[in-house]
Amino acid sequence: MNIGMRKFSGEIYDASTTIVAMGRQPEFDRLISSKFWERFTMWPLYFGALGRSNFYGMAVDTAWATVSMAIVISMRGQMAAAVAIAVYNQLEELNNLIGYFFEYSDEAAQTLPNWMKITEFLKVQECVGKKCIEDDTRSAPAGWPADGAIEMNDIYFDYRTGAPCALNGVSVSIKSGEKIGVCGRTGAGKSTLLSVLFSLGPLNAGSVSIGGRDIKDVSCHEVRANVAIVPQSPTLLDGTVRENLVGGNRDADDTDEYLKETLRTCRLEVLVERGLDGAIGQLSDGQRQLFCAARALLRRPKILVLDESTADLDQDSANELLRVIDENFKDTTVISIAHRLNFIRSSDKILVLNTGGTVAAFDTPENLLKDTGGYFARQMAEENSGM
Ligand SMILES: Nc1ncnc2c1ncn2[C@@H]1O[C@H](COP(=O)(O)OP(=O)(O)O)[C@@H](O)[C@H]1O
Ligand SMILES: [Mg+2]
Repeated sequence: MNIGMRKFSGEIYDASTTIVAMGRQPEFDRLISSKFWERFTMWPLYFGALGRSNFYGMAVDTAWATVSMAIVISMRGQMAAAVAIAVYNQLEELNNLIGYFFEYSDEAAQTLPNWMKITEFLKVQECVGKKCIEDDTRSAPAGWPADGAIEMNDIYFDYRTGAPCALNGVSVSIKSGEKIGVCGRTGAGKSTLLSVLFSLGPLNAGSVSIGGRDIKDVSCHEVRANVAIVPQSPTLLDGTVRENLVGGNRDADDTDEYLKETLRTCRLEVLVERGLDGAIGQLSDGQRQLFCAARALLRRPKILVLDESTADLDQDSANELLRVIDENFKDTTVISIAHRLNFIRSSDKILVLNTGGTVAAFDTPENLLKDTGGYFARQMAEENSGM
């Protein structure tokens, strides 16, 4: 009702010249008088709620509407309703200006932490206990890693000193080129398991080796150059297709034709049409993940990890991504965390993690399905019964 009143007053205000030109003031004066004064006292209540959703915006709106109402009501009897509307509308304009001020200061307050985060990131000097990137002198022998074999030997990892370990004595041995599916409940430590492959933090105990060498003896830069990821929500930067594609690998001497061929292989003809030096533009979630696959394909990593890459995709896009990966990463060790187990059903082996970061099972899908009481068999049965 009150929103209707506000709209009504606005329309009359906008049409005032026409009303006067047509000599219809007395008629509208009666209409306005009958509607306006009887409902005016309720305005502050709804006006606040109509305002911006932030607290300050609402508080200012409500306070301002109350003051405006008091000014206009105090003039009751001294002016016609139409004039009161005009006065009120002008007061409201002023309120909008104050509103904008709060809206923009609110926006600035929300943006500020991003700047602070960027500044903090720029200050980070340490990585896995070593001076990161430039000063990291650890180095692997030339040609490392010869293959994508991974050995995790009784690893313990916590995010903070004193926090419970997210990985508690995990040991797995993965042969080069094997396709491994990882599953377990949310919080079991699946993503953490992948992150240790990127040297994201020092282990509390145990060791991880890639291609036969403990990664604590290899610089972060080298480790990360050999492990590629297709995350659930890939981030692409504003810029050209080429910049996003080669990223930190600018020294690579891949020809334009090879870059285009890679995009085509990953079903990204649309980007070939936009041109390597064209803006990357808008891409769907599925296309962004295919783009990550293209990036990985260019780097020819020994290891590729997928962290719930298909979670936000429809069935067709998910199948397309998995097909591209199946066809193009035959020799690569691929580790996939999947929220739908059917997507990892055809892996060589499945790693099931318990809550608390311990290994519940590490075996072929066929063997795991035989254990009907096990997590994998139960989840598969549930998924396939459409629950
Ligand atoms: N950045 C982080 N900081 C602190 N704790 C974290 C962080 N990421 C994950 N954890 C904790 O580590 C445990 C494992 O999390 P995660 O590896 O993300 O599980 P999953 O991927 O299986 O859902 C959880 O208890 C989670 O709360
Ligand atoms: Mg996760």
